[in-house]
Amino acid sequence: MFVKRVGMLALLSVLLINNGMAKDGMWIPYLISQLNEGEMQDMGMQLSAEDIYSVNHSSLKDAIVHFNGGCTAQLISAKGLLLTNHHCGYSQIQSHSSVEKDYLKNGFWAMNGKEELRNKKLTAAIVKYMKDVTNEVLEGVNSQMSPEERAASVAANIKKLIAANQDEYKLEVKPFFFGNQYILIAKEVFRDVRLVGAPPSSIGKYGSDTDNWVWPRHTGDFSIFRVYANAQNKPADVSDDNVPYTPNQFLKVNIGGVQNGDFTMVYGFPGTTDEYLPSNEVQNIMEVYDPMRIAIRDEIIAVLDKKMRTDDATRIKYASKYARVSNAWKKWSGEIVGLRATRALEKKQAFEAEFEKAILADPKLSAQYQSVLPNLKNMYEDRKEILTERHAFVEGLYFGVEMFRNMLSYRTLVEAYESSDSTFEEMAANKAKALSGFYKNYDSELDEKVMEKLLPIYLSYINHQPLPDIIDKLKKGTSEEVSLYVKEVFSTMALSNSEDWINLLQNKPSKAIKILKNSAAYNFSTAAFNHFVEVINPEYRSYMGLIENSQREYLKALQAVLPNKRFYPDANSTLRVSYGKVDGYQARDAVNYFSHTYLEGVVAKYKPADYEFDLPQKLIDLYETKDYGPYAEKGKMPVCFIASNHTTGGNSGSPVLNAKGELIGLNFDRTWEGTMSDYNFDEKRCRNIMVDLRYVLFIVDKFAGAGYLVNEMELVSDRATLVEEKAPALEMAQ
Ligand code: ARG
Ligand code: ASP
Repeated sequence: MFVKRVGMLALLSVLLINNGMAKDGMWIPYLISQLNEGEMQDMGMQLSAEDIYSVNHSSLKDAIVHFNGGCTAQLISAKGLLLTNHHCGYSQIQSHSSVEKDYLKNGFWAMNGKEELRNKKLTAAIVKYMKDVTNEVLEGVNSQMSPEERAASVAANIKKLIAANQDEYKLEVKPFFFGNQYILIAKEVFRDVRLVGAPPSSIGKYGSDTDNWVWPRHTGDFSIFRVYANAQNKPADVSDDNVPYTPNQFLKVNIGGVQNGDFTMVYGFPGTTDEYLPSNEVQNIMEVYDPMRIAIRDEIIAVLDKKMRTDDATRIKYASKYARVSNAWKKWSGEIVGLRATRALEKKQAFEAEFEKAILADPKLSAQYQSVLPNLKNMYEDRKEILTERHAFVEGLYFGVEMFRNMLSYRTLVEAYESSDSTFEEMAANKAKALSGFYKNYDSELDEKVMEKLLPIYLSYINHQPLPDIIDKLKKGTSEEVSLYVKEVFSTMALSNSEDWINLLQNKPSKAIKILKNSAAYNFSTAAFNHFVEVINPEYRSYMGLIENSQREYLKALQAVLPNKRFYPDANSTLRVSYGKVDGYQARDAVNYFSHTYLEGVVAKYKPADYEFDLPQKLIDLYETKDYGPYAEKGKMPVCFIASNHTTGGNSGSPVLNAKGELIGLNFDRTWEGTMSDYNFDEKRCRNIMVDLRYVLFIVDKFAGAGYLVNEMELVSDRATLVEEKAPALEMAQ
């Protein structure tokens, strides 16, 4: 019996998609000493868990920054110098840009502190400590509670807990493992973060959408900021009195080179993953949700692309919208390919079959967990219809059609008008002013074409009763009627004639609002939005509560069935460590990728005047004279490399550290074949993509002439030695 059970568990461990062997996982830093230290050291790491995370003395954690709550960044000098991606600093770079000073196009370099550019509302948060508060948060909570009751108790406990722990830091409590565990996180949040440097987009965004999610990659995706603090080295509002922040620890930069097999560690703030879905939901993603969302975006992309390719003004107007639409679109298509290639579904199914067997074989387990997995699966099946409608709304109207969100933005103004609010006229004037920003990058003809394609798709999915009259009518109408209706929507002055509309809103706001209230555009948008808020979303949210409960039970069951397995919680924008090694991969049959790219490859992709593959002349000159300073490797300039670290969105800008904890890379993307890592990490196929720090320094120093920044950093150049490397040396000696 014992043997049989051990055998079964071993098989289960192997079958569990993300089994311990795969080096997958985004680990909680303070648990590394218990869970990962040994394995990391076996892989070559020369640090202790305490070097990575410590609350008693300075550690690497003190150099890791949550950049504006989304991306990651890292401190790289004693004077608060902060490194992140170009795409993470993009909106700050853009906000300082104008036609005369086009920093996006030409880059920006402060040559001293005075030239650094201040930013409104940009934060840099450093984790001070984390502690398990599960018992406090779950006090009075029991499994008989409905999801709403539980959420209310948990929220009240968290509120109490935060009030009781109040100190100088910003406190938050986050659920892990779907609420099986809660952790209190204290952060020091700096509010004066200035722009120091950014390469031109032709380096920082080189390859743009064509190369996005793609290996081999040749992008110098970095930008540099500086954190400022008050005289006491504490966070302060933007002010002349502030001085560069002195971190407890900053990262040393290693320019000694990176080779296949080298240990790597990514330290950052991954956003969301879903590693513990049941097989049927993975199937839904592969067969329903991803395909439908891809199909909707296919339509948007086809319309935008056609005009962007032939009209420069449209290309400039829509570049950033296009990038947003195509980013997830491309990721989803990679996800399907990766899930299929790794047979994720079959593996999950096989695992679940063994899991159920193991539960049935043990009376105690079956008493507690027998119905957990079937329940969870049913819940996802029951949610399918409403989630499909939700995607149709979100993709097909809310994000797909610009007119839609624009119309919704008038809702408060219309309410103010209807309630004869005394501030109505002032609000209208403000709205009129703000509109120029919207119209600057808006093409209503293009938007109309998009809506013509998307409205029929949206209508085909939307079924939940009660349907607003207009949607009911359109659903029953012919395709000609639907397309005539789109024409009517776009005939409204607010969309077809921006100048007259802004004037009217400014000078005769009541008349403007009357026109708006009678327009098809406004009425359709509010009707569809209200249907979403009142019908679709409440049902969707009730499923989310039930699913959360069920996932929590499932995780408990997994841990009970596999007591010796290490589990890591899904990403939730909290500080995590993942580790792997520098490695190429096989992308498909007969296609094997190397792990590094070089400046040769950048120049080989060069297309003069192209919006994705143009290059600054200076970079070409440096390439031709091989003027690489100390940053080259055997006469070649490294650009990007890949490794098998488990990362996701939010890990952009994360430091990639070597065996000694020195900075060697700046994470910014994943390879297309491995984007399914959010559901099913596979060590053979999943790679994170980073800029080689030597390329960053080369651009700062040689390209931009801002070598003073490099002087601020601490460079080391001895390569962390590797176990593997000793073998050939011995052989040669023989
Ligand atoms: N794919 C990367 C991420 O998800 C980079 C996105 C920015 N670059 C772009 N070309 N859109 O954030
Ligand atoms: N590009 C992503 C980010 O911005 C990273 C990823 O999804 O791998 O965080």
